[in-house]
Amino acid sequence: MGTNDPIGIFDSGVGGLTVLHQLLQLLPEENFVYFGDTARVPYGSKSRQTITHFSFQDVNFLLSQEVKMVVVACNSASSNSLSELKAKYEVPIFGVIEPTIASLSEEISKIGIIGTSATIESGSYQKMIKQKLGNKALLYEKACPLFVQLAEEGLSDSHIADTVIEHYLSKMKANSPQTLILGCTHYPLFINSLQRYFGDSVSLVNPALEVAREVHKYIHENGLENKNGRGDIRFYLSDVPRNFGSVSVNFLQREIEDITKIDIERY
Ligand code: DGL
Repeated sequence: MGTNDPIGIFDSGVGGLTVLHQLLQLLPEENFVYFGDTARVPYGSKSRQTITHFSFQDVNFLLSQEVKMVVVACNSASSNSLSELKAKYEVPIFGVIEPTIASLSEEISKIGIIGTSATIESGSYQKMIKQKLGNKALLYEKACPLFVQLAEEGLSDSHIADTVIEHYLSKMKANSPQTLILGCTHYPLFINSLQRYFGDSVSLVNPALEVAREVHKYIHENGLENKNGRGDIRFYLSDVPRNFGSVSVNFLQREIEDITKIDIERY
């Protein structure tokens, strides 16, 4: 694998485009291969074993594209399968959880975490926060599965979103968290509505941004910059959903032109 090879990134579907978006902002001269497992999404309601099995296949596919590193954009995969992935492959693998925890200030103690059921039930964010902050950390966690559908319908900043936010998060709000971790690829689309709901004193932490910062740092510290890159992106999906074009614009903030469909079961 050479420095001019692309960076691989995978997600259960379209959500990882929020991570790709942040990577493109910080690393405009890198090339990327994006794989979205749209035929088997969602990962967030599946068991750890299934998520890990899918994640192995996703990484196998990316390695077949000769990527120089892998970014696990999916919070559900990062929280359930990252250690297995790191143990199996030699290529550098980045998940979203570690850099998110590293970004938390030592001064805070009341932290809300939202994500899919697979992410919240894995306890990964909770365990790593406790490791960093000790028992002074007070954690408020909530799976918000309807957010995924709302984001894909373009309704993340709407009165319907406000109602769903109230439904899931009123109890958390009553505990006055200082920080809220947006532990799902889709949740950065709710930044406006969540900030409105919790108020300006609550800081929202976006794992997509934190992992992009970590990859940026790693590339520069290790001299892995692509000297000939042009921000090329190759998109691969395991199915091309009917609404992929319109949905992806909201996540990536640009049009996706060429998509190649692959059979992920072959990997
Ligand atoms: N990408 C997933 C995550 O970040 C959300 C969608 C899914 O459930 O697969 O957890």
